[in-house]
Amino acid sequence: METTTLNIPIEKAKVSKIDQVDFDNLNFGSVFTDHMLVCDYRNGAWEVPRVIPYQAISLEPSAKIFHYGQSIFEGMKAYKDVDGKVWLFRPSDNFKRLNISAHRMAIPELPEEYFMGGLKTLVQLDSEWIPQKEGSSLYIRPFMFASGQGFHASPADEYKFVICLAPSGSYFSGKVRVLIEEQYSRAANGGVGYAKAGGNYAGQFYPTQLAIEKGYSQVIWTDDNTHEYIEEAGAMNIFARIGDTLITAPTSDRILDGVTRKSILEIAKDEGIKTEVRKMRVSEIVEAAQNGSLKELFGAGTAAVVSPISGFGYQGVDYELPELANSYAALLKKRITDIQFNRAEDKFGWRYSIS
Ligand code: COI
Repeated sequence: METTTLNIPIEKAKVSKIDQVDFDNLNFGSVFTDHMLVCDYRNGAWEVPRVIPYQAISLEPSAKIFHYGQSIFEGMKAYKDVDGKVWLFRPSDNFKRLNISAHRMAIPELPEEYFMGGLKTLVQLDSEWIPQKEGSSLYIRPFMFASGQGFHASPADEYKFVICLAPSGSYFSGKVRVLIEEQYSRAANGGVGYAKAGGNYAGQFYPTQLAIEKGYSQVIWTDDNTHEYIEEAGAMNIFARIGDTLITAPTSDRILDGVTRKSILEIAKDEGIKTEVRKMRVSEIVEAAQNGSLKELFGAGTAAVVSPISGFGYQGVDYELPELANSYAALLKKRITDIQFNRAEDKFGWRYSIS
């Protein structure tokens, strides 16, 4: 058994599955690398993480995750440049957000060295799995959940922190048409919308299914109180371009502080694009679509990066957004992925080498 400088024990898989993977035809998050990181919280403390072969996790049926959904996650990616060097993107922001989510869900916060050291050890070990094809990357899924038992509705006394890796292609295939939601809500004031709690995503599935039945692929979430303000796009933050101004909703109790969202805002400013972080009325978007000033709508998130929206439905009317020659979405996606893949200077200091 090998150990790292952090004394993270590594138990290597006996046989690699890498030869079974078609790296030219990867879906999103459906094949997993040879190893995973596991870290247990017991007796009031996080134990030293360990890397083990990718395998099933055994839990008692009374584990609280099954009953009360005490579960959070993060989404990150590892990128390999043309020289084979491996990079992460703003990993300490994911670490900070993981603990913000943990705090809100009454899960004990993880020490930074376990997150960063564990991540580095695991990604380095499985670095052969990082795809180099344009549009592909190694999706990293850190998550934490209540493994402690009991039916009492209170925080568990044991937890697991796990990281799995999935070589992945694009999150969306084809155009994204969205429905502006008028009935269901993703989050409420004082709730857990800003946390990456698993239940925030489960709660989206049913309204999204209804939207899919109507011919859309995602829901645009509006505020729970009035449904008059645009907040998020499916599992992503949302941006609108009206005229030449790029607008996104401010983060709040209800809106996730997306790493891609805040990076896009900084890159846009650096490009000289006028940005506004403010509440966006649905009526403003509809009017702008009617008078032709709504040039673009796009989602931004780690998995999908920047995902242009080709049209939206609202109150039974469909609005189309024709493709633009000089779209902000295309420009911003290129700038952020050029930084991530080490194809351009990183004046922001976001790239993080783990080679
Ligand atoms: C991500 O963009 O990484 C997310 O966490 C969203 C997830 C639903 C894929």
